[in-house]
Amino acid sequence: MSDLIQIGAPNERPRIPDPSELKLKFSDKAIAELEALKTHYPEWKACVLPGLWIAQREYGGYLSGDAIAEVAYRLQRSYAEVEGVATFYTMYNTAHKPGKHKIEVCTCLSCQLCGGYRLRDYLTSKLGIHHGETTEDGMFTLEEVECLDACDRAPVLQIGDEYYGPVDEKMVDDLLAKLRKSNESTVVKLADEIVQVHLRETERAK
Ligand code: FES
Repeated sequence: MSDLIQIGAPNERPRIPDPSELKLKFSDKAIAELEALKTHYPEWKACVLPGLWIAQREYGGYLSGDAIAEVAYRLQRSYAEVEGVATFYTMYNTAHKPGKHKIEVCTCLSCQLCGGYRLRDYLTSKLGIHHGETTEDGMFTLEEVECLDACDRAPVLQIGDEYYGPVDEKMVDDLLAKLRKSNESTVVKLADEIVQVHLRETERAK
């Protein structure tokens, strides 16, 4: 019998929680937000995306198995369905818990031509991590991403809900110093900003 061929990294997803073991963690605020969103759509299924953003905020920036199970439970969907959505979109953090700040460096064509790889390599040397890795102190995660749709500012970085560009080494140094001093997680802040946009749209559509 031939050996099995492993394609890609081994599956690191946590096991699917048993419904009886669910540890629900949504705050009262999060529950109220999800309830408000549910009134806006004919089917709860449509709330999976904003529900996942609420979960990403509530679970500290990471959609763990428990986080996905809680969204599935609160929207009466299957775990597989919600996990399928969460793992399809790269803005949801499902592969591993990110650091307090996720630095996304664009190396798509325009940024590449304007020094995107140099910028990525500089970040790697400053932080001692590569794509998809997090610093030991849990402060920074580095990710190489495709076009951030801000090519006129190439080379571009995204950190939380902010875009920076064109970025040079000096700007990287200043940004890292500023982020190290910040008490706020830009990963969690981004999730909250997106939840608030969904809620504002819900209000406007009434
Ligand atoms: S190629 Fe980097 S923002 Fe478009």
